[in-house]
Amino acid sequence: MPERLAEMLLDLWTPLIILWITLPPCIYMAPMNQSQVLMSGSPLELNSLGEEQRILNRSKRGWVWNQMFVLEEFSGPEPILVGRLHTDLDPGSKKIKYILSGDGAGTIFQINDVTGDIHAIKRLDREEKAEYTLTAQAVDWETSKPLEPPSEFIIKVQDINDNAPEFLNGPYHATVPEMSILGTSVTNVTATDADDPVYGNSAKLVYSILEGQPYFSIEPETAIIKTALPNMDREAKEEYLVVIQAKDMGGHSGGLSGTTTLTVTLTDVNDNPPKFAQSLYHFSVPEDVVLGTAIGRVKANDQDIGENAQSSYDIIDGDGTALFEITSDAQAQDGIIRLRKPLDFETKKSYTLKVEAANVHIDPRFSGRGPFKDTATVKIVVEDADEPPVFSSPTYLLEVHENAALNSVIGQVTARDPDITSSPIRFSIDRHTDLERQFNINADDGKITLATPLDRELSVWHNITIIATEIRNHSQISRVPVAIKVLDVNDNAPEFASEYEAFLCENGKPGQVIQTVSAMDKDDPKNGHYFLYSLLPEMVNNPNFTIKKNEDNSLSILAKHNGFNRQKQEVYLLPIIISDSGNPPLSSTSTLTIRVCGCSNDGVVQSCNVEAYVLPIGLSMGALIAILACIILLLVIVVLFVTLRRHKNEPLIIKDDEDVRENIIRYDDEGGGEEDTEAFDIATLQNPDGINGFLPHYRRGLLGGISQDAV
Ligand SMILES: *[C@@H]1O[C@H](CO)[C@@H](O)[C@H](O)[C@H]1NC(C)=O
Ligand SMILES: *[C@@H]1O[C@H](CO)[C@@H](O)[C@H](O)[C@H]1NC(C)=O
Repeated sequence: MPERLAEMLLDLWTPLIILWITLPPCIYMAPMNQSQVLMSGSPLELNSLGEEQRILNRSKRGWVWNQMFVLEEFSGPEPILVGRLHTDLDPGSKKIKYILSGDGAGTIFQINDVTGDIHAIKRLDREEKAEYTLTAQAVDWETSKPLEPPSEFIIKVQDINDNAPEFLNGPYHATVPEMSILGTSVTNVTATDADDPVYGNSAKLVYSILEGQPYFSIEPETAIIKTALPNMDREAKEEYLVVIQAKDMGGHSGGLSGTTTLTVTLTDVNDNPPKFAQSLYHFSVPEDVVLGTAIGRVKANDQDIGENAQSSYDIIDGDGTALFEITSDAQAQDGIIRLRKPLDFETKKSYTLKVEAANVHIDPRFSGRGPFKDTATVKIVVEDADEPPVFSSPTYLLEVHENAALNSVIGQVTARDPDITSSPIRFSIDRHTDLERQFNINADDGKITLATPLDRELSVWHNITIIATEIRNHSQISRVPVAIKVLDVNDNAPEFASEYEAFLCENGKPGQVIQTVSAMDKDDPKNGHYFLYSLLPEMVNNPNFTIKKNEDNSLSILAKHNGFNRQKQEVYLLPIIISDSGNPPLSSTSTLTIRVCGCSNDGVVQSCNVEAYVLPIGLSMGALIAILACIILLLVIVVLFVTLRRHKNEPLIIKDDEDVRENIIRYDDEGGGEEDTEAFDIATLQNPDGINGFLPHYRRGLLGGISQDAV
């Protein structure tokens, strides 16, 4: 029964177990025995507490039941009391034992199991771990039976200002254009403070400039850095070092601080015009300098850099504007004067130019400061040079008739030395251009003469090179091309354009065109060819043929009558005189062969010679001989056959050896030779019985080189 009562009591009292006494941070400064242990039923009860508790009440923070606070970084001679656990079940006897578990229990936080006092036995760092979660329990001292359920609470570590601000990204670099107006934003920097940004001012930062005034300023809260002077000039000072400080505790004394450096570089703007280093430049140039050669360089300096220093150069005045040009070398930022047209010392010995350099990229903000350009004078002196001879013409074209006499003058070239000390000149032919030594030249007066005969029909052009050499200086040489054209002379007679063979049909009508011929002439008269054709004077009244000139310079040969007969006359020869229109004209006689042929009714030639009556046209001589031989052979066989018939009743064996031999040799002579005996079956002439006396004779006499086996 008493046991049940105890249980009931326990149930009733459980909610009344009060654990937390939250203490103000400073309370730990007090000796441990003075610290208050509260049965904190309500916050009001705290009002009755002592001095320390009143400090706590002034804090803005509301108290939370299951929290305790402990100040970070505390290091006293003894462990600090964090708080005390208490249960109202504790009758004061030693029946209750307090147990602590959770974050840091036993290692950082220690509990007096009798009194319930919790001490921090190690120095704490909020920035490392800001709160610890622990579990408290009250158990029976003897039985270790829990007197109540375990209860969780938090120990919060309270911040002190133990961290200085830090610039994590420093040192910094920034740029700002030179000549910026005052207050131009340059950059901003940020410092961080590890202390509690929510509690107190330990992390409240204020920025200031320690070094870098009066050029730059910083906004204390935002840390935006701005220019503090207008029109800072890069050309005067390009780089500035700014030291920036961040201080916590809102900048008040006693706060911690950190610094960093910021390097500010001014960037260039085009605020400086180009300026020639010299107002007068002198250059000299030999008159024979190659076009495009750089004669000299001028340079306008510009204090700016990059494209702001770029200038373009121009020749704006002077007496040599047509002969010279100036180009801008963007790399070296200078101007190069070059020659555009040839100089001649003998004509003009010096030139003056006015050159201008002007900035390419003008900044309109500064254009009011005056022109961003400068001018200078350039004097160019032309020097005399030993120049090679100059021909009177860059090329020569000469013409010569192909029948020109040897050593006749074809033409002349002239050249002179342009120098003041004019040297005499010698001429020669570049023999690489006249390998056949067709021409000669007079070394003194440049007259070109013919050395070997010309033939236009062989070569129309002779393009040679003439060399002029100064007698006083053999290295001064000039060359000139001379094209020599060979003009035509009528030195070729016309002739048939090809070998014509004419056929005349036996059955043709009078006036039939037998053949059309044309002529050619190797000459090349200016107005083209015009040929005249005629028959030999004694043939003019030829009864058989006549000629007729055609429009196109060709000639038709016509038969005068019909009834030509190849039996009567097979071939006619018709000489024709062809004459050209040259002056004097040339002519030649070409003979046309006219064959009389048999033709079909529609005029197609069928056959042209007499034999063609019996033999098909086209048989070769060999074939004719073969046919002839066959005929003779046939005759021989017929004769043989007749002879055999005559001896019909006599034995076929011929006893007379001589007779047999004679017969066979004759046969042999008339046939195709020994080879034919193989084809011709001699056995048919023999007695099949092979009578003795005959065979040996036959072998000896007839067969000669034929092998015995063959018989
Ligand atoms: C020679 O020169 C003439 C004129 O310049 C040219 O027409 C001709 O083709 C040239 N002949 C040869 C073979 O180079
Ligand atoms: C003309 O032809 C006849 C035969 O047909 C011949 O006798 C005569 O010589 C020919 N005349 C000439 C000039 O060829």
